[in-house]
Amino acid sequence: MLSKRIGIDLGTANTLVYLAGEGIILDEPSVVAVTAEEDRVVAVGHEAKEMLGRTPGNIVALRPLRDGVIANYTITEAMLSYFIDKACGKARFFKPEVMVCIPSGVTQVERRAVLDATMAAGAKVAYLIEEPLAAAIGAKVPIAAAAGHMIVDIGGGSTDAAVISLGGVVVHNSVRIAGNKIDEAIANYSKKKFNLLVGERTAEEIKIGIGNALASDEGKDKEEKVKKMEIRGRDSVSGLPRTIEITEAQVSEAIRPVLLEIVAAVKGVLEQTPPELASDIIDKGIVMTGGTALLRNLDRLMTQLTGVPCHVAEDALLCVVRGTGVALDNIELYKRSISKK
Ligand SMILES: Nc1ncnc2c1ncn2[C@@H]1O[C@H](COP(=O)(O)OP(=O)(O)OP(=O)(O)O)[C@@H](O)[C@H]1O
Ligand SMILES: [Mg+2]
Repeated sequence: MLSKRIGIDLGTANTLVYLAGEGIILDEPSVVAVTAEEDRVVAVGHEAKEMLGRTPGNIVALRPLRDGVIANYTITEAMLSYFIDKACGKARFFKPEVMVCIPSGVTQVERRAVLDATMAAGAKVAYLIEEPLAAAIGAKVPIAAAAGHMIVDIGGGSTDAAVISLGGVVVHNSVRIAGNKIDEAIANYSKKKFNLLVGERTAEEIKIGIGNALASDEGKDKEEKVKKMEIRGRDSVSGLPRTIEITEAQVSEAIRPVLLEIVAAVKGVLEQTPPELASDIIDKGIVMTGGTALLRNLDRLMTQLTGVPCHVAEDALLCVVRGTGVALDNIELYKRSISKK
C-alpha cells in the first residue's frame, strides 16, 4: 500500500487527523489566520487560535467552519491542505486517500464543497462519512446489529442525534446549536447582567471551568460552597477593562435555554423512532459524544428530560475521528453510509 490513508474529523471547533497504521496524529483548533488584504494564510491550528480576537489590523484569524458547515470555502481548502501536508510529510510521491467526517445535516451543495475542497487539497480519492455514524463506530457501539442504538454528538457547531440500526442511520436530526451557542449565551448574559463585554475564548473558559447543566442555588446555603470564576472583559458603559465574578448558578441560568434546545433536538429524534427501535434504545440508553457532551451534568439533564438513560462515551472528543479511521479501514463494510469522489 503506497498511498497513505487519512481520516479527518473536520469540526467547527477542532480538526483531528487519523493516519492509518499510526492512529490520531493531529488535534488542532479549526482556525486559520490570513492577511486581511490578499487572504494569504499565515498560520493554522494552535498558532492561529492564539491570534483569535487579538490580531493586528493586517491579519485576521477566522474559523472556516461555522455551525458545522463550510462558511468560507477557500480558507477551508487551505486548512485541509495544511492538515493533509502535515499528515503526509513533505515528500509526497503518492496522493493520499482521505475520508472526511461531516455533520448529518449538511446539504448536497455543502457535501460537494467538502469533497471538492479535499480533492483540491491534494487527495487522490475523497470520501465522506456522516458524523453520527462515525461517532457511533468510534464509541464502539455495535452498529451493524439488528438493534437500535442512539448516538448524540454535541460538538462546537452542531448537535447530531441519530438512531442507527443495521449499519445505517434510520432517523436523524442535526441542529446548528452546540458548544459555540453555549459560549455566546454566557457572553450575552455577562453583557446584560454585568455590562461586561467578553470574548468567545473567555466565555468558553468559564463554561469549561464552572459550567454545569444542573447547578442551582438550592442546597448551597454556605457561601464557600458556591463555585465562582473571575471574568475579565470591557465595561460596555465606561469602555474600560473590568473584572467581575460569576457563579456556577449564574452560568447555569445563562446556558439553560441553549441546553433545552439541544434536548429538544434529541427528543425530536426519539419521537420519530419506530417502536421496535425505541424499545432497544430504552434498554441500551443514549450514548453522547463530542466535546460538549463533557459539560458537567449534561448527561443527567438529558436523562431527566427524555426519560431515557444517557451516558457519555469514553474519550468523547476522539470518537468521531476514531470512527472515521475505522470506516476508512473498512470501506466495504460501511459503504452504504459513505459517499465518494
Ligand atoms: N469539559 C468541557 N465542558 C464543556 N464543553 C467542552 C468541554 N471540553 C470541550 N468542550 C466544548 O466542546 C466543543 C468542541 O467539541 P468538538 O471538538 O467535539 O467539536 P467539533 O467536532 O469541532 O464541532 P462540530 O462537530 O459541531 O463541527 C467546544 O465548544 C468546546 O468548548
Ligand atoms: Mg464534531
